[in-house]
Amino acid sequence: MFKIKVPATSANMGPGLDTLGVAFKLYNSFIVEEIETGLEILGCDEKFANSNNLVYSSMLKTFEKLKKDPKGVRLTFKTDIPVSGGLGSSATCILAGITAANRLCGDALTKQEVLKYACEIEGHSDNVTPALVGGMTVSIINEGATYYNKIPISEGVKFCVLIPKLQLATEDSRAVLPEKVPLKDAVFNVGRVSMLIVALVNGDYKGVKLACMDKLHQPYRMGLIENYSEITSFVEDTKALGVFLSGAGPTIMVMLKKDDNSTEKKLKEFLQGLSGNWETLNLEIDENGLEILDM
Ligand code: HSE
Repeated sequence: MFKIKVPATSANMGPGLDTLGVAFKLYNSFIVEEIETGLEILGCDEKFANSNNLVYSSMLKTFEKLKKDPKGVRLTFKTDIPVSGGLGSSATCILAGITAANRLCGDALTKQEVLKYACEIEGHSDNVTPALVGGMTVSIINEGATYYNKIPISEGVKFCVLIPKLQLATEDSRAVLPEKVPLKDAVFNVGRVSMLIVALVNGDYKGVKLACMDKLHQPYRMGLIENYSEITSFVEDTKALGVFLSGAGPTIMVMLKKDDNSTEKKLKEFLQGLSGNWETLNLEIDENGLEILDM
């Protein structure tokens, strides 16, 4: 019996659609036990407690890759990450499933292979990469293989997430994205994603607000999220370093200077006046990524 603990993540980070991501100290944990036969899923919503469950289906895909027959399994979920919230809950399930099957097959896969299979299931690399390795990462997929680098961002930043009660499936949030974008919009993002990385590494925060801007996904998605424009406009007039949609949304991420003790209070007061039942949560970066704990 073992436990797999996987951190929440925020993908895209504004202009870095499908490439940038960061892991946080907020976790989903999955206890895995081999049993004689069948499948038991405990601790999750009844509608997910069946063989379509993303952890289990990711396990089955991995057993198939490794040409092994699965035995019975009992999965116990202890989850703190909101479902369909834009904080990488699906990525935690995919990575947990692959890692569970891999452990039951004697750790046949390398970390790089776990990442590759996770990207195949997820369809992009920006959540699964930081969830697996921790920290802030840039990742790309080339001919089926995922390459990544950790970005050593300066210690002067903290993150405050704004979470509404609303759930938004990534599928629906991707459906509004265009097939093609104008060259000037692509150039807009190339500059900003480069600027964002350098500014966060150097701790030179002047350009971060502008560098969080994006023309590839946020403008198309904002209509799906009640209060999005009001909130981002409000944040832009505060001392916050930057604001962006977390992953496919609806969660909104605000970056603050570590010594900023006033902006979060202002945000809370502002959110109380809105209809969307927004909550704030301070998150610290997780540097470790996925962990397996023997029990
Ligand atoms: N990069 C992805 C997206 C993250 O924006 O759709 C959500 O899984």
